[in-house]
Amino acid sequence: MNGIKIRGTGRGVPEHIVTNDDLARIVDTSDEWITARTGIRHRHHLQAGETITDLTVAAARGALEKAGVAPEDIGACIVATLTPETLVPSAACQVQRALGLPHDTICFDLNAACTGFLFALHTMECLLNASPRKFGLVIGAENLSRVTNWADRGTCILFGDGAGAAVVECREGWSSISAVLGCHGTGGMLRIPGPETGVPCHVYMEGTKVFKFAVEAVPWCIDQVLHRAGLTVDDVDFFVFHQANARIIDLAVRKYRIPQEKYYKNIGEYGNTSAASVPLVLSELEESGRVGPGSRVLTVAFGGGLTWGGAVVEFA
Ligand code: UT7
Repeated sequence: MNGIKIRGTGRGVPEHIVTNDDLARIVDTSDEWITARTGIRHRHHLQAGETITDLTVAAARGALEKAGVAPEDIGACIVATLTPETLVPSAACQVQRALGLPHDTICFDLNAACTGFLFALHTMECLLNASPRKFGLVIGAENLSRVTNWADRGTCILFGDGAGAAVVECREGWSSISAVLGCHGTGGMLRIPGPETGVPCHVYMEGTKVFKFAVEAVPWCIDQVLHRAGLTVDDVDFFVFHQANARIIDLAVRKYRIPQEKYYKNIGEYGNTSAASVPLVLSELEESGRVGPGSRVLTVAFGGGLTWGGAVVEFA
């Protein structure tokens, strides 16, 4: 199978910022607790009149511009999300309409919770191998403030809204992203019920259990991906972690002795944006020049499902 590389990234983030002190006015919490236990200082939330579709389209447009790729060259568009504005049309079809992607572009949404962007990258690699057009749009977009229980201090402090996108290209001779993906079907420790279940459509999470799962899943994914790709930690230029809790990232960084210049945390700014978290990091890194042509990035994510995954993706 031919591999994919990233041509360009983009992002869309709501302007409205919710600080830890704002949340301390509605639940029994404090800036000190949130910062120390999670690394989150604030998060961005959509306001009335704004939609996640707007952010998704902005991210996709930014990625196309950065990549220098025209909409008519896109063979497939996948939006990883668990909070699309509308179930039908899908978020990907909304992007298709807004950007004028061709009618034979394969557009669909994918839900693998916080691991969604990695599931989408792997799916895109498979799709582009069979597509006559060799560019694809992979997007992660979430409106988590919509599914937040504002009375639950254990979860309402965590989540933010946003969208990140990458234009990828598939070429003969490029190596695969070596994706390692997995699922363990259980809603016991993390779930969002669907509509009309008689239970509010909110995040329900047993945080400490999910934390323990994540602390084991991250190194497992790193080891598996490195093994599959035939690489060592030193061969990786940059590590991009799902931004769920700064402490989870710190533990992984310590375990693998990853130097500070080889990883990045933006959880302080955005909180946990689920499927948008990895592409938001990629986009900020590319914009600041910390990754660019030739950079080899190892990315890891985990989340509801339970799901987990890792991949090695290069910038073209
Ligand atoms: O993105 C996908 C998956 N999600 C995650 O990866 C999240 C993983 N989990 C976590 O990040 C952490 O478990 C949390 C940040 C959610 C919670 O941190 P924790 O260190 O596991 O805290 P805890 O739930 O064990 O609670 C410790 C104490 C409790 O009080 P008592 O029982 O010891 O008196 C909680 O009631 O902290 C209390 N607490 C809070 N206190 C102030 C829980 N939330 C808050 C809060 N402010 N917001």
